[in-house]
Amino acid sequence: MKIAFVTTELDPFAKVGGLADVARGLTKALSKIGCDVKIFLPRYSSIDPWRDELHYCFDINEIKLKISEKEFAVHTFRKEWKLDSNSSIEIYFVDSPFHFDRNSIYTNDEDEGERFLLFSKAIFEICQRLKWAPDVFHINDWPTGLLPIILKQLYSWDLLFKNSKFLFSIHNIEYQGNFSPDLVFKNHLDGKYFYPGGPLEFHGKVSFLKSGIVFSDMITTVSENYAREILTPEYGGGMETILQTRKNQLFGILNGVDYSEWNPSTDKYIPYHYSEKSLYRKSKNKIELLKTFHLPEDKDTPLIGIVSRLVSQKGFDLLITGISDILNLNVRFVILGSGEQKYEDFFRSLNYSYPDRFGLKIGFDNHLAHLIEAGADMFLMPSKYEPCGLNQIYSLKYGTIPVVRKTGGLADTVKDWDYFLKLGLQTGNGFVFENYSSQDMIVAIKRALEKFNDKKTWKKIQLNGMKENFSWAISARKYFDLYTLLSKKH
Ligand code: ADP
Ligand code: GLC
Repeated sequence: MKIAFVTTELDPFAKVGGLADVARGLTKALSKIGCDVKIFLPRYSSIDPWRDELHYCFDINEIKLKISEKEFAVHTFRKEWKLDSNSSIEIYFVDSPFHFDRNSIYTNDEDEGERFLLFSKAIFEICQRLKWAPDVFHINDWPTGLLPIILKQLYSWDLLFKNSKFLFSIHNIEYQGNFSPDLVFKNHLDGKYFYPGGPLEFHGKVSFLKSGIVFSDMITTVSENYAREILTPEYGGGMETILQTRKNQLFGILNGVDYSEWNPSTDKYIPYHYSEKSLYRKSKNKIELLKTFHLPEDKDTPLIGIVSRLVSQKGFDLLITGISDILNLNVRFVILGSGEQKYEDFFRSLNYSYPDRFGLKIGFDNHLAHLIEAGADMFLMPSKYEPCGLNQIYSLKYGTIPVVRKTGGLADTVKDWDYFLKLGLQTGNGFVFENYSSQDMIVAIKRALEKFNDKKTWKKIQLNGMKENFSWAISARKYFDLYTLLSKKH
């Protein structure tokens, strides 16, 4: 099975959030079950061909692409990513400095749509020069949403692609890539699809996401629950009606974890390794973590970790409204994240006013993210919506008990301890609240704090989480089954 995995993030080369982890973990697992995977990623300026050992592709050479009536010379770099002695994955980096030499992966620049249109077109050109016909183009999120229509309108003459199918994974439906309609008319995309309510149109704009939904052969989201949720107005981001029409081709597959990266017994970023059998060593990481954040080195006060993009999706408004109650709790916080000014300012003010209780780092720091997973007692994700969420799944493996809102993938992975206890089962692995309300969040935190003081129960909850298996091998198999189904479709 030949899979072209098209992504705008890939750990460790380019990461904003979970898509980067997925691109790495899923492709690796697919390759292990025998898929021939090639990954396609823009070469952002943060990726240095020399330092990152990329090789210029002389076999592909210069590609001339016209975008909005301007011509650009695009080049390609390749890297062979060795998985073990017999398998490797080729990563293709699409190089157009004009488009990708920017301060961040995603921008608010005027040509944001054109940046990813160029990336999308380049993929077909590269496949042509490699004479490589993917069975499935596995495309991810809005930046890749135009690929099916580009193939249909601009490359369908090439029989190389005659059996290729598209699987579109939606990691977050709120990011839609809606741009000025000029993009359609200036780029030979057929205007017949752009009319009010039409396949490319969304509130007067051309929508990459909608195009992906309409023209892909199959659609997936990153948890089963989110696949149901996005069919509703509350979670569908306005796309629910169009998604309803594609309901039979919509599937939810939960993201997995790359346990070679996220595992407390081997994690290269944490000072003290531990496992279910040596859980007592976890508290040594807690001390390291407290030191890192200049907090008192006290292992008895519960410590809540947060690692997140600081955006409204993640539910931090609940912390803002509930802050006076939170300040009454006997608990410390360590927070790592960056994003919207309002949330950064809120956490800064807490850090300033209560330096003994709120440790803060604004920025992106993978090393610290691992230390927080290992050193915190609890991990808080009060998300307003959460397509899958990875940190709560990492937390389970680290014996760091997740406190989450019951939404999207959080609901599929975290089982409330007290709820299951009432059913006579000691199988819960965390604490869950349902309503998007700060009161409910605080009740869940309080329930967790109570159990923290009951060491025996706490350990039981930790072990329940550590025993769970969310390995990519399981989810990759499900993608493989969908690819197989697709490749049989005519
Ligand atoms: P999302 O993709 O919505 O941001 P996920 O939970 O799926 O949420 O994935 C977030 C990923 O990004 C995790 O690997 C998390 O550790 C990482 N991450 C988020 N913010 C930071 C940060 N400031 N520093 C380091 N890693 C971060
Ligand atoms: C998105 C979602 C997150 C998901 C990630 C990877 O960024 O917000 O919930 O885990 O994609 O699929």
